[in-house]
Amino acid sequence: MIRPEQQKLFGVIGNPVRHSLSPVMINAAFRAMGLPAVYAAFYVDELASDLALLHKIGFTGLSVTVPYKEMTCRLAEEIDHTAEEIGAVNTLLRTNLGWQGRNTDWIGALRAIAQAVDVDGSRTLVLGAGGAARAVAYGLKRAGAVITISNRCVGRGLDLSQHLRSEFIPLDSLPRAQGEFDIVVQCTSVGLEDNGASTLVPDSFFRPGMTVMDIVYRPRWTPFARAAKRAGCNIVSGLEMLLYQGAAQLEWWLGRLVPESAIVAMREALEEAVDDESTH
Ligand code: ATR
Repeated sequence: MIRPEQQKLFGVIGNPVRHSLSPVMINAAFRAMGLPAVYAAFYVDELASDLALLHKIGFTGLSVTVPYKEMTCRLAEEIDHTAEEIGAVNTLLRTNLGWQGRNTDWIGALRAIAQAVDVDGSRTLVLGAGGAARAVAYGLKRAGAVITISNRCVGRGLDLSQHLRSEFIPLDSLPRAQGEFDIVVQCTSVGLEDNGASTLVPDSFFRPGMTVMDIVYRPRWTPFARAAKRAGCNIVSGLEMLLYQGAAQLEWWLGRLVPESAIVAMREALEEAVDDESTH
């Protein structure tokens, strides 16, 4: 028998996971809420047995990141309807039998954008058709947005748009659709530090008054977000999605609302961590 005695244990599992900002963010929340709990990052290469081990040690909750979100759907004891619909689990809660899985990425995207603009009835473009795009499109659609998907690979883009019963525009045709959207969310990996400096769309695509979020937050200002800002768009930082998906994880693990003071502490910790990285 083994169990944690003084603190509740939480963590993020991934591969790689070294650069995860979740420990900085969630531990800031624990401090702000005065909770005896710790959260650490774990490199995992045998998902099934490592999940069983973390359960045995007594972890209360886990975040799941790349590349395990899809595989975790099959390994959890039970997942909710939304995680099933999205096809990915990013949050696990301990039960006696094993792990219960949910997805909070869609909640994070929705809360981040809904802070800036009314989502219901908005014409919303989701760029990308991978796991991240799937969660974002699901969340915004659920809040009443009229979704259009655009993706480089047409087959993958059509699959997602058919699943959501939404429009699809191939990425090459997107410049001709300029001016048609109120909200644009960049959900591809373009813009990540190691993935070139393309902006996916020409600068002329952006219009003043559009609300634009790039879910890539490293670097903090991607070429895409910079171009949107220059054009006078209303920018939502990708860090806000990370923040609110983390707050939703905490709410589920703790069974209570996360106070605004903890949200502020989480945001500060994230901004500081990303700014530190860019100066090193
Ligand atoms: P994630 O789970 O993080 O969403 P993913 O499933 O690998 O990651 O999806 C990556 C997304 O980024 C896809 O939409 C991919 O487009 P394709 O389906 O056409 O591959 C998109 N992407 C990656 N590199 C890209 C590039 N250079 N130009 C355009 N889209 C790109």
